[in-house]
Amino acid sequence: PVKIVTIGGGSSYTPELVEGFIKRYDELPVKELWLVDIEEGQEKLEIVGNLAKRMVEKAGLPMKIFLTLDREKALPNADFVTTQFRVGLLDARIKDERIPLSHGLIGQETNGLGGMFKGLRTIPVILDIVKDIKKYCPDAWLINFTNPSGMVTEAVLKYTDHTKVVGLCNVPIGMQMSLALMLDVPPEKLRLQIAGLNHHFFATDVFLEGKSVMPEVLEKYIAFSNEYAIKERMAMMKASRENIGKEGHKAEESLSKTPMLMPFSEAFLRGIQAVPCGYMMYYYHTKEMLEMEVEEYKQGNVRAEVVKRTEAELFELYKDEHLNIKPPQLEKRGGAHYSDAACNLIASIYTDKGDIQYVNCKNNGAVTGIDNNSGVEIAAVITADGPKPMAIGTLPPTIRGTIQNIKAFETLVCEAAVTGDKNIAITALNNNPLVPSDTMAAEIFEEMLEAHKRHLPNF
Ligand code: NAD
Ligand code: G6P
Ligand code: MN
Ligand code: MN
Repeated sequence: PVKIVTIGGGSSYTPELVEGFIKRYDELPVKELWLVDIEEGQEKLEIVGNLAKRMVEKAGLPMKIFLTLDREKALPNADFVTTQFRVGLLDARIKDERIPLSHGLIGQETNGLGGMFKGLRTIPVILDIVKDIKKYCPDAWLINFTNPSGMVTEAVLKYTDHTKVVGLCNVPIGMQMSLALMLDVPPEKLRLQIAGLNHHFFATDVFLEGKSVMPEVLEKYIAFSNEYAIKERMAMMKASRENIGKEGHKAEESLSKTPMLMPFSEAFLRGIQAVPCGYMMYYYHTKEMLEMEVEEYKQGNVRAEVVKRTEAELFELYKDEHLNIKPPQLEKRGGAHYSDAACNLIASIYTDKGDIQYVNCKNNGAVTGIDNNSGVEIAAVITADGPKPMAIGTLPPTIRGTIQNIKAFETLVCEAAVTGDKNIAITALNNNPLVPSDTMAAEIFEEMLEAHKRHLPNF
């Protein structure tokens, strides 16, 4: 029997996780699921927890759901601890996005200034959680979803001796699904070689039933890229997400027929011979992304503000006592389908499956040029002893620099989060391409520090 503890249980994504455990009950018999939250999230926890109970009851499974605000009560004998919390909730994310934008810089929850501050708030909390894991369930696997997922994994690898940690993200599996759609093949027949970091990776090879189809992928991707102007594509993605749940889910259908890929120039794609993940838009289309975000900023529609409204809408649905499934409107959130990543990973560790999944784990020599003890996002064989990353070797200079640069940024943010060293924090920002000035780095750092003071006890 399996015991799972989910920290940040009040998340609107929880029904997806529960759905994932219900679907896989035969191979992964979850007997206890403990949803842990804090006082600020108590109301959300109760609403989502009751929905989870109705879902399990409808499925007719002997899976017990427990709700608690006391993590130390939940952790004893856990087999897996999953983390999906947000320190400071969406109001903190609004600041991460709006403050940089007010200075004309990208404001994003996992990149640049916003990503750094989310890391600074989150890392001390995850290290505290790991202390409790060591005390109450030292054999448990920590499966982290909390963003910035790469930095959070890095902090656990570097600042604790708990080795059973895996970081997750839904972007690589999303790319696999999009490329499958583009090639018109079932997604499970594809496998990607991915090189890089969380929200900063490239697919460097694509295999269809074991045979590389990279030349075809590149030609089709270039044709796709040439079809759309960047701004048109960005607007399409946004509109289709906003319309999910309306008009009989028409928008959702049309979105699922279009690969979720972002356009880049033919020259660049031929140069790198790889497929950049969607977050590379912030680095290679900084100007266009910024123009779009500044518009959103002016309208009070930065992503966190939009998500806040979506979340309110979702919780209204969740309250309905007749609802006993995950509502389709959850797909409006960027993390849609993340439960497949989480549940597949847990099931494969539990059953020692040996399949290949995309994870954040210790590099261990898989990528030359990244420290062996640093985290990477990579395809790995999943065993009962954890993920075994598949060796990539030396990265070509076309993509090596940006990966090493962001790795340096992440490493420095982790160090600053642990030590509270401002010099390291400013140096981290000066290493980040989204922050173009030392003067601005220092100024905005102070402003954000002040705004987030309550959640930054180390500074
Ligand atoms: P959310 O704002 O709903 O927060 C989830 C819950 O965390 C809230 O109920 C909140 O009260 C709780 N919380 C805050 N601090 C806590 C603490 N110290 N201990 C326990 N609970 C705490 O967030 P969300 O939108 O559901 O996202 C949750 C997290 O998952 C975020 O960090 C988000 O960035 C991340 N996320 C990651 C991926 C991925 O691909 N890795 C996908 C989706 C979401
Ligand atoms: C993607 C990323 C997640 C991120 C999410 C944001 O799915 O992989 O890491 O949390 O988008 O979605 P949101 O709906 O919160 O903007
Ligand atoms: Mn404690
Ligand atoms: Mn992610």
